[in-house]
Amino acid sequence: MNKKLPPISSKAPVMLHGADYNPEQWLRYPEVLQEDIRLMKLSGSNVMSVGIFSWVSLEPEEGVFQFGWLDNLLDSFEANGIYAFLATPSGSRPAWMSAKYPEVLRVERNRVRNLHGVRHNHCYTSPVYREKTALINSKLAERYAHHPAVIGWHISNEFGGECHCELCQTAFRDWLKVKYDHNLDELNHAWWATFWSHTYTSWEQIESPAPHGETQVHGLNLDWRRFVSERTIDFCQHEIDSVRSYNPELPITTNMHNIDGVDYRELAKILDVISWDAYPDWHYTEDDDDARLAAWTAFHHDMYRTFKHKPYLLMESTPSLTNWQSVSKLKRPGMHKLSSLQAIAHGSDSVQYFQWRKSRGSSEKFHGAVLDHSGHGETRVFRDVAEVGRTLAGLTDVVGTTTPVETAIIFDWDNRWAIKDAQGIRNSGLRYEETVVEHYRGLWELGIPVDVIGSGDELSAYKLVIAPMQYLITEENGKRIEKYVEQGGTFLATYWSGVVGETDLCHLGGFPGPLRRTLGIWAEETEGLHSRDLNGVVMQDGNFLKLTGEYDAHEIAELIHLEGAEALGHYRSDFYAGRPALTLHRLGEGKAYHLATRVKDQGFYVDLYAAIADKAGIRRTLDCELPTGVTAQLRTDGEQEYIFVQNFSGREQTVVLDNQEYTDLETGTAAPEVLNLEVNGLVMLKRKV
Ligand code: GLA
Ligand code: ZN
Repeated sequence: MNKKLPPISSKAPVMLHGADYNPEQWLRYPEVLQEDIRLMKLSGSNVMSVGIFSWVSLEPEEGVFQFGWLDNLLDSFEANGIYAFLATPSGSRPAWMSAKYPEVLRVERNRVRNLHGVRHNHCYTSPVYREKTALINSKLAERYAHHPAVIGWHISNEFGGECHCELCQTAFRDWLKVKYDHNLDELNHAWWATFWSHTYTSWEQIESPAPHGETQVHGLNLDWRRFVSERTIDFCQHEIDSVRSYNPELPITTNMHNIDGVDYRELAKILDVISWDAYPDWHYTEDDDDARLAAWTAFHHDMYRTFKHKPYLLMESTPSLTNWQSVSKLKRPGMHKLSSLQAIAHGSDSVQYFQWRKSRGSSEKFHGAVLDHSGHGETRVFRDVAEVGRTLAGLTDVVGTTTPVETAIIFDWDNRWAIKDAQGIRNSGLRYEETVVEHYRGLWELGIPVDVIGSGDELSAYKLVIAPMQYLITEENGKRIEKYVEQGGTFLATYWSGVVGETDLCHLGGFPGPLRRTLGIWAEETEGLHSRDLNGVVMQDGNFLKLTGEYDAHEIAELIHLEGAEALGHYRSDFYAGRPALTLHRLGEGKAYHLATRVKDQGFYVDLYAAIADKAGIRRTLDCELPTGVTAQLRTDGEQEYIFVQNFSGREQTVVLDNQEYTDLETGTAAPEVLNLEVNGLVMLKRKV
């Protein structure tokens, strides 16, 4: 049964609300610092992330440390009931270090070493950088690990990127030697290196991918991405090791953001608590329908929660606009509260912003912040932030509650790397992530909670497991899925699945390789379609899911043969009209569905998952109809359930509740039977389990 877990910090057993704060930029403006504390309290803020990018203010010269400003800050936080996530400063370094030790500077793919500048650009292998980082971290830990205001470590900032220096090349070769058991033949086979005579005859010949060198050996590209990810995680572990022992009670996080680089599922394993930075560009589409983006964001929230199956932190979000999206649009009324509470709905125990006060100069001076250059709280943004502060203060009971989940979507880093690197079958737009979210959105529209898992994760807790475009899958994980279905699970796969194994070598003997027996089909051919091409899935009379009519399909179509599966729907047109497009295979106690083409209508995914969820006995958050663009998400302590009904549809909506008894969480009174949701509106409910 789901239950309540302890708060992230026992010092602050409340919903956390706050921002990144860099007072070291304002030391020449003492009045600003005074005013900040007053306004923090007025905005209902109770936590600030401090010290991110502060290295030069802590160590202005090599070996010369100054902590006065940070002492004063943390003491003043303590006196005012404000907590701090204390950052290690390695996300950017002082100029003196780059000048004295050029090896800390990153080397790009073109093998040119960067000059000193910007941030997030150091070599993760450099012994000097590791030594300097460990030193400053241990100084901070020694001084502040037991400070009453400090509730956790914020290690560095948004780890990512890669370095191609000689130190990293050697480390990569050493990593390959371990992986391939010091056997170059094994590596050459795994990378299919005989192709174009790329066979290596010495380890020294191996180089990381380069624009003027190797780019086409997919196995090399994939192993390089794995190596970079492991190296980065190893660097983070090195930072953790430098602070942990000073106070083992202090929880450790690092803020995640860009899924392109590090395998966050692996990084998560060395952290105590997950945190991420969410910057959706709301109101981007012409019709102002934010539902697609809301589902996209919800998917990420669910992924970060699933990493540890416990509450996480929304470490950064913008209180108004960003300065790096193509168009910096303000949040429309309601959207700040709605998008902040969306995080809570999916399992966050915080809403935090980048940043507290807008910088006066440099590259982020126009990025939204709680305090504008006007410097006071009489602004729309400040009022929106204070309203979220008040709302969060009323949600203390929700802290530590968990999400009961019966459905999982598989989203693997190496599958994503491999599928995007492969040449074919639709180079003009394979749309992997969009496809995952298309499936996810079907469940989101129905108010069905979802975990986002890896193909190596335990499956038995779920009634339904969905694997969109599982192009890379190992024999072993294929077997685990087969067993899961045999033992009663429901599984759904799509086109372009079971194509390659761990090193990007194609599975021989027919696709979908290790999933072929589970799905009871053979995919003989798969084609990409031009944007102008349209096909369709026509549902068969009396099909098991009772779906009717037909749905448009486009972009990718797979020609499959039934090997034990039954057809539920078939292609509408082209030379393969009438051949199966949606199938069901009954295997052991379970069921495996296969969708052979990309369906264009979003409504299909809602209909499909409504039918599959009913057959699999999966519970929805609310047992009632939800209008398109409205979702309901759930958290529970095992006795009470907290339900967040969110309207991202861009228009007013009503929801007729099922006939359980609900309390409105904000008013504390009985909820009406019909909920009226404003544009960007949200209603929070409570009911007994
Ligand atoms: C990232 C960084 C912050 C800031 C914001 C701006 O998330 O972590 O330092 O640059 O972006 O959106
Ligand atoms: Zn390097």
